[in-house]
Amino acid sequence: MRGLKDKVAVVAGGAGGIGTATSVRLAQEGCSVVVGDLNDDAATAVAKQITDAGGTAVAVRVDISDERSVNEMVALAVATYGGVDILHANAADLSAGTLGRDSNALDIDLDAFDRTLAVNLRGHLLCTRAALPEILKRGGGALVYTSSGAAFMGEPERPSYAVSKSGINALVRHVASKWGRKHVRANAVAPGLVLTEGPRSVLSEDFMKLALRGTRSWRLGEPEDIAAMVAFLASSDGEWINGQILSVDGGASLR
Ligand SMILES: NC(=O)c1ccc[n+]([C@@H]2O[C@H](COP(=O)([O-])OP(=O)(O)OC[C@H]3O[C@@H](n4cnc5c(N)ncnc54)[C@H](O)[C@@H]3O)[C@@H](O)[C@H]2O)c1
Repeated sequence: MRGLKDKVAVVAGGAGGIGTATSVRLAQEGCSVVVGDLNDDAATAVAKQITDAGGTAVAVRVDISDERSVNEMVALAVATYGGVDILHANAADLSAGTLGRDSNALDIDLDAFDRTLAVNLRGHLLCTRAALPEILKRGGGALVYTSSGAAFMGEPERPSYAVSKSGINALVRHVASKWGRKHVRANAVAPGLVLTEGPRSVLSEDFMKLALRGTRSWRLGEPEDIAAMVAFLASSDGEWINGQILSVDGGASLR
């Protein structure tokens, strides 16, 4: 893809299923990648995978719900590679203690709601506040967030998750509207069901068959499907795309 070679990309939540695929893809396209993740062992392994393959990457532990931690991640990008051109804000708290308790509006413990918003939404705002000034210093760049089909679906469970992803969609439109003329592009990818470790370990075969029937495809999603869209949105090939939420879901949503 055009315009990714020698760019600096920060991937927040860069060591899970989708984050790993995106970190690797951006490195393959020629970016220097800062792999930030709460799981520092996993982040280190992803950075090693990239450098072993001849790419450029460094790992850092980050908790995107913590402003200082996010600022340190971006400072590392500046100190190591001289600036930031691309932010991929991808992290979400999908743990049993948070997403696992995201039941419904009447029953949910408010601390599970608060934690979901603190990571999935406020965390993405913190990443924006840390990376955007650096992107502006470079004369522009791209922010690509990970939303979800859950923001559009209307589901009887996981209301906090859907609220957090709807908030990301609003944040995307705001950043594009405020800074678009300064050569800043903000977009989100909204994945459908992607077979990362989480869904693979908790979803039954029957559920997956049902989910597949809800698509217009012969297969469910793979992390590389999302990575390809992130790379495209970050690249110059996506230069005239701004403020959009792109569904990558095998045609499930027809938005
Ligand atoms: N897999 C799917 O079907 C699917 C569908 C729609 C949207 N998504 C979204 O895609 C993104 C990635 O999901 P995934 O399936 O790869 O899950 P994953 O659990 O494999 O990856 C999430 C990553 O975020 C990290 N993380 C969690 N909390 C963090 C924090 N506070 N600070 C920094 N990092 C943190 C985790 O350590 C993990 O590496 C998420 O935003 C998720 O909501 C996934």
